[in-house]
Amino acid sequence: MKVMIIGSGGREHALAHKLSQSPDIDCIYCVPGNGGTALEDKCFNVELNNIEEISAFALGKNIDYTFVGPEAYLVQGITDIFSQRKLKIIGPDKKASMLESSKSYAKEFMKKYNVRTAAYDTFSEYEKAIDYILKADFPLVIKADGLAGGKGVVIAQNYEQAVETLNFFMKEDIFKGSGKTVVIEEFLKGFETSVLAAVDGKTILPFISAKDHKQAYDGNKGPNTGGMGAYSPAPVYRPEIADFTLEKILKPTIKGLKAEGRTYRGVIYAGLMLTPGGPKVLEYNARFGDPETQPVLMRLKT
Ligand code: AMP
Ligand code: GLY
Repeated sequence: MKVMIIGSGGREHALAHKLSQSPDIDCIYCVPGNGGTALEDKCFNVELNNIEEISAFALGKNIDYTFVGPEAYLVQGITDIFSQRKLKIIGPDKKASMLESSKSYAKEFMKKYNVRTAAYDTFSEYEKAIDYILKADFPLVIKADGLAGGKGVVIAQNYEQAVETLNFFMKEDIFKGSGKTVVIEEFLKGFETSVLAAVDGKTILPFISAKDHKQAYDGNKGPNTGGMGAYSPAPVYRPEIADFTLEKILKPTIKGLKAEGRTYRGVIYAGLMLTPGGPKVLEYNARFGDPETQPVLMRLKT
């Protein structure tokens, strides 16, 4: 079998490392890959620059399956284009990827399908967001609606910091459109855990838990990042919490997606806060987590 992996991170290296161990796989093309994938058995790095080039390569080489690492390609609709060309690809389609690409959509979805999450409001008008924070309790959490490379969430400790964040996101438009709409939500206290699960549209199969380390700088003093490192399992994610998460969070999510007519095939990532009142969803990602995939796949035995 020939496989293609799209992406250039540690996540893609972990996937390449694991897939290369399968006796069914003869050859893995990493697009573009990195220094790590270049050293793996059966792996070849290939430089391709857009979906057109990638799908032409997949057709030309008779690739059996493509794995998509980063969200940007999913959100651009790579799955839809591959499917039209009868190419097999593992990842949700463009519509289903909105669970990651729009935080306001994800929050609305969770409300509609009773998936546990923090209380929130969505704002597209700067003045209305300011009015809201004038009356709010702190800390509160301000999130850019669109993709921001893991940097679009600020935990505002006070009014001044919240105003500064709204200025950056909505007025100065530092995320080039992604922060024009913001979600402002309740600050949740607890332990964070990342849960990745494989989905075929109907069935959901969770991997073991992981914990992502988010903050930059020593002593957790820095801003949030997309993830500085990860370990697995997250010891606080005990079996009864995992069962609860499967029944009350993961299954309702897949049922909701089906009810919305959004085909979800691939890996879904639920970022959870384990609060004293039980787990709540902080965010969804429409793909393997980075860096969580590194410890999770290293531990996968089958
Ligand atoms: P997100 O991209 O939504 O996962 O947010 C990035 C990070 O911000 C999370 O991993 C948490 O550390 C933090 N965070 C997000 N939402 C909340 C919340 N409602 N309460 C507390 N921390 C949060
Ligand atoms: N580590 C968080 C993410 O993959 O988005």
